[in-house]
Amino acid sequence: MKKHPQRTFTSEEQQLLEEIIVHRRDVRGNRFLTTPIPESAMDTILQAALAAPSVGFSQPWEFVMIKDQETKQAVKESFSEETANAATLFEDQKQKEYIQLKLEGILESPINLAVFYTPKAGPVLGQTSMPNMGKYSVVCAIQNMWLMARSLNIGMGWVSILDPEKVKEVLNAPPTHQLIGYLCFGYTDMFYNQPELELRKWDRKKLQKEVVIQEKYR
Ligand SMILES: Cc1cc2nc3c(=O)[nH]c(=O)nc-3n(C[C@H](O)[C@H](O)[C@H](O)COP(=O)(O)O)c2cc1C
Repeated sequence: MKKHPQRTFTSEEQQLLEEIIVHRRDVRGNRFLTTPIPESAMDTILQAALAAPSVGFSQPWEFVMIKDQETKQAVKESFSEETANAATLFEDQKQKEYIQLKLEGILESPINLAVFYTPKAGPVLGQTSMPNMGKYSVVCAIQNMWLMARSLNIGMGWVSILDPEKVKEVLNAPPTHQLIGYLCFGYTDMFYNQPELELRKWDRKKLQKEVVIQEKYR
């Protein structure tokens, strides 16, 4: 993509970004299609990750692209173990609802992406007081991919019900790497208009006035 030094955006372009943000969804295995993702589309998504902000421009990320069904199966086993444990933490009706939810799309998605935080040995500019900033930078990269994928009509689902050490073992990841996100990409039969968990009444959407505090907490 060509970069212009003094690029400004029109209101139509701003609205387009708003549309992409509003229509982004977490996509799970109940919606993924088997249609392969072209390499060029995956490159566009990865370039969006590499364009993300990072503390001290540290770019503390690495991405493992997984297409092999056996590898996915090994990761799915960790999900199955973790989700069985997780279900016991919810009570009564919530537990029943939890069990019925589809909370991943590891096997159904043609491309899984494990995203790692790769800490530096020495001090990082901007990360000297708040040590988690490197990890937050990796999350910025993930959000960029989520939005770019959506603009390509490709769904992305974030799977966090996993034992990160098991995933590292499956992927032969170096000991210092930390798993930040395990993502599933794929075309979908549809994108929901609202979060699936809202649709299924797991929780309701918070309003701006509930979460924005003017000046100070009282
Ligand atoms: C850090 C993070 C971890 C998540 N982990 C999971 C997960 O393990 N399984 C799942 O089904 N969804 C997961 N999600 C997706 C959320 O459930 C989803 O973003 C939320 O319900 C709002 O829906 P939306 O993304 O479609 O707007 C995760 C999202 C984030 C940001």
